[in-house]
Amino acid sequence: MALRNIVKDGDPVLLKHCKPVEKFDARLGELLDDMADTMYKAEGLGLAAPQVGIIRRAVVIDVSEDRSGLVELVNPEIIYRSDETQYGTEGCLSFPNLYGYVTRPKTVKFRAQDRHGEFYEMEVSDLFARAVCHELDHLDGRVLPDNIEAPYEPKEEEQA
Ligand code: NI
Repeated sequence: MALRNIVKDGDPVLLKHCKPVEKFDARLGELLDDMADTMYKAEGLGLAAPQVGIIRRAVVIDVSEDRSGLVELVNPEIIYRSDETQYGTEGCLSFPNLYGYVTRPKTVKFRAQDRHGEFYEMEVSDLFARAVCHELDHLDGRVLPDNIEAPYEPKEEEQA
């Protein structure tokens, strides 16, 4: 396990459409471990592979307060979005000084593979749903500045 550099605003890798993960091997496991380490060190709620320079469809998310809720999403797809929405603030580890309001579905259901290639489905709401939408956008090169509807000035340092 190791920390990787987080790619920042201006790097074209953030705008790429990522390719599916095809090999469920030790290298993928290492990538996911490193992404989790990097996310925790940076105190983020999620991290997508292009944010560490890897143009593949892999994401880690942990929205739990005690940082014990790690979820790995390989080749994720949203298969249900609630009509009910939530309006709230987002940040991004790749855009350290940018925060803004983004509308997201209140609940989403996604289908993904784990690090061994096994498919699973999960239905999540509120902050977790927001994180899933944010991270999956990264896989299609869609980043925070594309999504912000209104600016937000945080009172103290926050990251998401
Ligand atoms: Ni982000």
